[in-house]
Amino acid sequence: MRRIKIVVNGTAHDVEAEDRTLLSDLIRHDLRLTGTHVSCEQGVCGSCTILLDGRPVRSCLMLAVQAEGHEVETVESLSGGEATPESLTSLQRAMSDQHGLQCGFCTPGILMSVTAAQRDGLDAEETIAEVLGGHICRCTGYRGIRAAIRQVLP
Ligand code: FES
Ligand code: FES
Repeated sequence: MRRIKIVVNGTAHDVEAEDRTLLSDLIRHDLRLTGTHVSCEQGVCGSCTILLDGRPVRSCLMLAVQAEGHEVETVESLSGGEATPESLTSLQRAMSDQHGLQCGFCTPGILMSVTAAQRDGLDAEETIAEVLGGHICRCTGYRGIRAAIRQVLP
């Protein structure tokens, strides 16, 4: 076991984890932030995407110990931990407006990747071309997701 110091959504944590613990498991099981979803566990689907020092990362491909000393943002950070219509970001509202989600399993990962693209100043078409391809959605056919991105990004 090792002690890991990590900042998640602005809160400093000092947690104990095994060397083999995945970052996704630390986030979900130890920190109880279950908004980050895990599906393929092979880096393919994108559902486990979080931001590590502001960059999108597949948390199922990282060991928790590799995140020592870094800052993590999960989907819970977007609305300040609240789940009210007023607390949603413009992107979250757009996903709702445009029916960009059904089961919602892919949604947290997409929200985090598109949020990073938004901060980087990518436009909608760049984001759709460069970011959306890294996320698998089995439900929507992507039409609503693309519409949500176009609603928010220039
Ligand atoms: S669960 Fe991590 S990429 Fe699919
Ligand atoms: S909304 Fe179900 S996988 Fe995307």
